[in-house]
Amino acid sequence: MRTVYLNGEFVPRASARVSVDDRGFLFADGVYEVTPAYGGRFFRFERHMARMRRGLAELRIDYDPAPLADVHERLLAANALADEPISVVYVQVTRGAAPRGHAFPATPPRPTVYAFAKPFKREESEAWEQGYHAATVPDRRWARCDIKAIALLPNCLAMQAAVEAGCTDALFVKDGVAIEGAHNNFFAVIHGTVVTHPATQHILHGITREYVLELCHDLGLPVELRPIRLEELWQADEAFFTGTTSDVRPTVGVDGRTIGDGKPGPITRRLMEAFVKGVEREVAAAPLV
Ligand code: PDD
Repeated sequence: MRTVYLNGEFVPRASARVSVDDRGFLFADGVYEVTPAYGGRFFRFERHMARMRRGLAELRIDYDPAPLADVHERLLAANALADEPISVVYVQVTRGAAPRGHAFPATPPRPTVYAFAKPFKREESEAWEQGYHAATVPDRRWARCDIKAIALLPNCLAMQAAVEAGCTDALFVKDGVAIEGAHNNFFAVIHGTVVTHPATQHILHGITREYVLELCHDLGLPVELRPIRLEELWQADEAFFTGTTSDVRPTVGVDGRTIGDGKPGPITRRLMEAFVKGVEREVAAAPLV
């Protein structure tokens, strides 16, 4: 995609430049968001921005994301994505450039703000119907996974391990508990109840997770927010991941063991259908941003 946003300007990607002193580059000192747009209309934009605001406050980066609404709109327009069925906008804010030193610079630098847009393709229905396989990975991330920090090395290592195991998803496991995916939240259906990890500091509070929980409520599905022990998965009826780039994604195997009957389950299917319809309805009713 040709045009990106950097520090107040829309510039060709090839000419965008960030300082080698940027604390994002040196320390991964920043936060990010990935917000989906359907036919040029953003889904739950304000929730993504609220999460970013909270992350910025937790990291004490003095940046007001209010101008980002306009940036998101303009990036879609500048890259001819306003009519694209699905696109995503990535935005990251770092503390800015300063001589290297672990503590915050005495004079706060100007935060670096970078954003780009790209088209997104939903999984082919054939792949969805086959279901997806996950590999478990020990969760050795920091204790503030609720902050959407750009420090994603453990997530990258987890995904690489999953790919090398022939899987499409990585499932972080800590103290015997299935926590979340490397870039998505995790759910299981156990004795007919939809179970997912509570929104603590151990997981990212996914916007898709929250929406799927609303859909469970609308569909009258029983829900429990509690840790899921890995052994419970071997008796689970169904399992799935949720996320901006995962939608509702059926998991039919974990570490080579079959989940349920090895096919996407009926609750996963109902939730995916409700998700697709619900998103369409909500964006049609919502203002552009
Ligand atoms: N990832 N958990 C983690 C660790 C994530 O990185 C993400 C999102 C989610 C799902 O959140 P949401 O439903 O708000 O997208 C859960 C983004 C998409 C990424 O890193 O590209």
